[in-house]
Amino acid sequence: MTVNVAIDGPAGAGKSTVAKAAAAKLGYIYVDTGALYRAVGLNALNHGIDTTDAAAVEESLKGITVELAFVDSQQQVLLNGENVSSLIRTPEASMAASNVSAIPAVRAFLFDLQRDIAKANDCIMDGRDIGTVVLPDAKVKIFLTAAPEVRAKRRYDELIAKGSNVEYKDVLEELIQRDYNDSHRETAPLKPAEDSVYLDNGGLDLEASVEKVIEIIKEKIQ
Ligand code: DC
Repeated sequence: MTVNVAIDGPAGAGKSTVAKAAAAKLGYIYVDTGALYRAVGLNALNHGIDTTDAAAVEESLKGITVELAFVDSQQQVLLNGENVSSLIRTPEASMAASNVSAIPAVRAFLFDLQRDIAKANDCIMDGRDIGTVVLPDAKVKIFLTAAPEVRAKRRYDELIAKGSNVEYKDVLEELIQRDYNDSHRETAPLKPAEDSVYLDNGGLDLEASVEKVIEIIKEKIQ
């Protein structure tokens, strides 16, 4: 039996940074499932498809491949064999991912891939529906969140550090829109699993968040 840790929560809660650091400390692999939805969204954008058009997006899945590879424990996302790990990190790809993730055919398309990785590896997997749908039997489930303003500020700082020319108010607006989309869709909406530990890390820095997450994991797997 592998140890599976599910970390769900809204955009900008720091899931990926916290999960990645905790996984490195525990010797687990870190799986960022948002990257899969981003790859599907990017594929649709590349083909000029309206990412809110469910039928067109479903059609776009035919014949594509989305894979994850782990190079030095770092996850890489391959779309049709091409490494798109950087290309999926734009605001356009974020919104496209949020749109396509509401489409049941997209969720079904990515389901087995996520399950298979968890079956084969001790992992921390982050997303929106990991504890509720993908790994309902995960030993540890954490719902990681913070106030929208805190999350938007973190995202804004990240984008600015990467050289993007963005406005804080646009980042906040986009984040609130994505929160709404992600938690109001019919299929696998973002919500805490009943048996999850709720962690608001608004007042915690990265190190303290990682420590807290590791503490929760150790307690649960004992
Ligand atoms: O975690 P992220 O910001 O990279 O995710 C991008 C989008 O993908 C997000 O708006 C919602 C969707 N997503 C999802 O529906 N289910 C997941 N398990 C992960 C992401």
